[in-house]
Amino acid sequence: MCGIVGYIGNKQATPIVMDGLKRLEYRGYDSAGIAVHNIGEPIKFLKNAGRVAKLESEVNKSVPLGTVAIGHTRWATHGVPNDINAHPHTDCTGKIFIVHNGIIENYIPIKNELMASGHKFSSDTDTEVLAHLIESLFRGTLEDAIAQALARVRGTYALAVISEGDPQKIVAARNSSPLLIGIGDGETLLASDPSAVIAATKKVIFIEDGEMATLTSEGFRIKDLGGEDLVKRLVEIPWTLEEAEKSGHPHFMHKEIFEGPEVIQNTMRGRVMADQGLVKLGGLEDIAKRLSETNRIILTGMGTAYHAALIGEYLFEELAGVPCEVEYAAEFRYRNPILNDRSHTVLIAVSQSGETADTLAAVREAKRRNVLTMGIVNVVGSSVARETDAGIYNHAGPEIAVASTKAFLSQLIVLNMLAVFMGRMRNLEVSRAKELLNELITIPEKINQILAQEQFFAQLANWLKDAEHIFFLGRKYNFPVALEGALKLKEVSYLHAEGYNAAEMKHGPIALIDSSFPTIAIVPQDSVYEKTISNLEEIKARGGPILAIATEGDEHILKVADTAIFIPKVLEPLSPILTTVPLHLLAYHTAVARGCDVDKPRNLAKSVTVE
Ligand code: AGP
Ligand code: GLU
Repeated sequence: MCGIVGYIGNKQATPIVMDGLKRLEYRGYDSAGIAVHNIGEPIKFLKNAGRVAKLESEVNKSVPLGTVAIGHTRWATHGVPNDINAHPHTDCTGKIFIVHNGIIENYIPIKNELMASGHKFSSDTDTEVLAHLIESLFRGTLEDAIAQALARVRGTYALAVISEGDPQKIVAARNSSPLLIGIGDGETLLASDPSAVIAATKKVIFIEDGEMATLTSEGFRIKDLGGEDLVKRLVEIPWTLEEAEKSGHPHFMHKEIFEGPEVIQNTMRGRVMADQGLVKLGGLEDIAKRLSETNRIILTGMGTAYHAALIGEYLFEELAGVPCEVEYAAEFRYRNPILNDRSHTVLIAVSQSGETADTLAAVREAKRRNVLTMGIVNVVGSSVARETDAGIYNHAGPEIAVASTKAFLSQLIVLNMLAVFMGRMRNLEVSRAKELLNELITIPEKINQILAQEQFFAQLANWLKDAEHIFFLGRKYNFPVALEGALKLKEVSYLHAEGYNAAEMKHGPIALIDSSFPTIAIVPQDSVYEKTISNLEEIKARGGPILAIATEGDEHILKVADTAIFIPKVLEPLSPILTTVPLHLLAYHTAVARGCDVDKPRNLAKSVTVE
């Protein structure tokens, strides 16, 4: 979810807000906009799809005057990135302007109700509903209207509102999406994160969930949604600007690994009804019948997305009972696949960027062959999202680091939800679905328990960083995790690592094992635990050092492995979500220990848009 900037004070607001939006560019976005109020005149606004620079060139043609302004960089979740869907959004009167980060889950019923009472909408976004809802409740005081409106909505928001009807103020509110107030001298700023205000002030107040702030040039007031005044602590931002862009994390990769729990919650938000054993996937309504008749799933992607697809294969076969195969997208589109029973086949493309040329080519090949196509995509409005027949957005927010981490976890969550969704159309027992979904909602907390061990991972990285070759081993659900762990280590630390199925070792690779060749074994207590332990005994017998990713409470593992990272107990289909986290952090710390450019590894691009 992207960026909000606001300014109210004694200076011209436009250049300050535009500077703040530029400082949020690192967060990735697809459109931008600004609304400026010169008190006594109508509010002026400009917005467009594309870069902040494009907005700036429009703004500079005739800089809007005014000492109150709000700005937005959008990371689309509902409605493709175009000029109309860019923020700010306004109501029917054009006198109330809002910018919003987050997702309004129940925007459709509210939008229908407002339309029935005569409201005219111009965009496809969830956000615009807030503007019209506030309008319908406005009786002269913006805070009251916003509080009543927020009592109606479900979802996440960081929002800022200005209005001609109640001028000289910015009203802001937060639920789950970050928002802070910058305290200046005769001016007050608002932003999604410190990087947008740090040029003006390091004194900030963090707005918490359920709080509403009124900003004026003299300062601010913060209340809870019940109207009670709150006393807030002033914080001095200790970061440099560059650090602020990473919210204090040393690298984007580190930040995105630690965003994992929040991203998983956003991916599941509004989609998991655990107590009913149900999953709701709005983007699949038009193809639900065809999915219920599907008897062949082809999963495709490249790199990390391909590894997620490999895990999907186990999920669809175990939970949905549908035959599934996985193809490198680059292979699928050139090998003339046999697609006889097209009306019962679906191709599911997994892609964070939605722009990977190989993956897009596979989608186009499937469409050419009249096969139903779906996308599991993070970037709204991207090519794969637009060209597939239907799909599911990750809602993982922008992923800046070249190494994909939080998006991979989100892809696994989506694949689990989709497998349950399709399973419930078939023979998946309600009790089994409830068991899985109730475990799924505990995953964020389980990941936090793993992240808390970070210092141990940093120590292990010192052991790993001097190895020349490393094996990653796993079986069944965790065989693709072995591939992912090896890829992550390779791409950020430039160490040679290979992911293998643990059973495959005795068919050749074990010839490489000696005391200088470490193995990282993913060996949770699952259905193939004993078999994997046997493979590790074979490695141990040849003096190979072993680091295990094991289940808390496993008292046997240290009889085989030299050391172990323990993860919380988890149902087998969900185990890759947990076993991956230590591997991402190990790769990160090894890269740091080796002095590599963690966020921009040599030779790599974030999105490979060439075949
Ligand atoms: C993953 O860390 C790599 N950056 C790369 O393998 C990536 O997963 C691959 O290029 C696919 O990208 P996509 O998910 O955007 O399609
Ligand atoms: N859900 C809103 C939209 O799609 C806000 C997205 C964001 O956080 O940038 O426009």
